[in-house]
Amino acid sequence: MGVPILTIDGPSGAGKGTVSRLIAQKLGWHYLDSGAIYRALAIAITERAIPLDDIDAIVNAAEDMDLVFECDAKRHITLDGHDISHLLGLESTGNTASKIAAIPEIRAELLHKQQHYKQLPGLVADGRDMGTVIFPEAQYKVFLTASALTRAKRRYKQLKEKGIDANLSKITADIQERDQRDSEREFSPLIPAKDAVYIDSSDLSIEHVVEEVLSLVR
Ligand code: DC
Repeated sequence: MGVPILTIDGPSGAGKGTVSRLIAQKLGWHYLDSGAIYRALAIAITERAIPLDDIDAIVNAAEDMDLVFECDAKRHITLDGHDISHLLGLESTGNTASKIAAIPEIRAELLHKQQHYKQLPGLVADGRDMGTVIFPEAQYKVFLTASALTRAKRRYKQLKEKGIDANLSKITADIQERDQRDSEREFSPLIPAKDAVYIDSSDLSIEHVVEEVLSLVR
């Protein structure tokens, strides 16, 4: 029997993580947070002081890293036995992740690690190229997006709630720069799969998006 797969691709801040986790919980399926894999690799190379142009060393770090995802509502992850959850969401981690994600050798190394998550009773896979490259065979595909300003405002609110000083125009500019890098890279760029359902969450609640996506699967 085939493993049912739902892919949810889109830019950072569109609500993919929250929506994907909730849907995986409701369906009782596994959840792949592929962005966290790129982020964990970014943390690993920063800790080891590996420069961004040393591709062999980054590929080796990707091969060696031992990542464990805890099953809870937030991103809670250990890398080689130590908790890196507090570093995952940092802007600097996201920026380094986006840079290493443009390197084809690194994407190739991470391909099988991600495909490993395809297991019964089903998988919700969240990322940029889940429906186009990693699981092109998926039965259900969604491209979830929102305007750059909406995503920046969500991020700003999150940071403020954590008591972190934030500047909305700087966040908007960073988001636009990251979108551009992720969308224009030569390998596995952020583009909707041809057979994906396109959802713009700018004016939708999380509950609404979850219902819309669940209606595709049911
Ligand atoms: O979803 P996220 O913000 O945690 O992802 C961090 C970076 O990782 C993002 O800027 C691009 C990269 N990424 C990717 O290239 N492919 C994926 N499937 C997931 C993330």
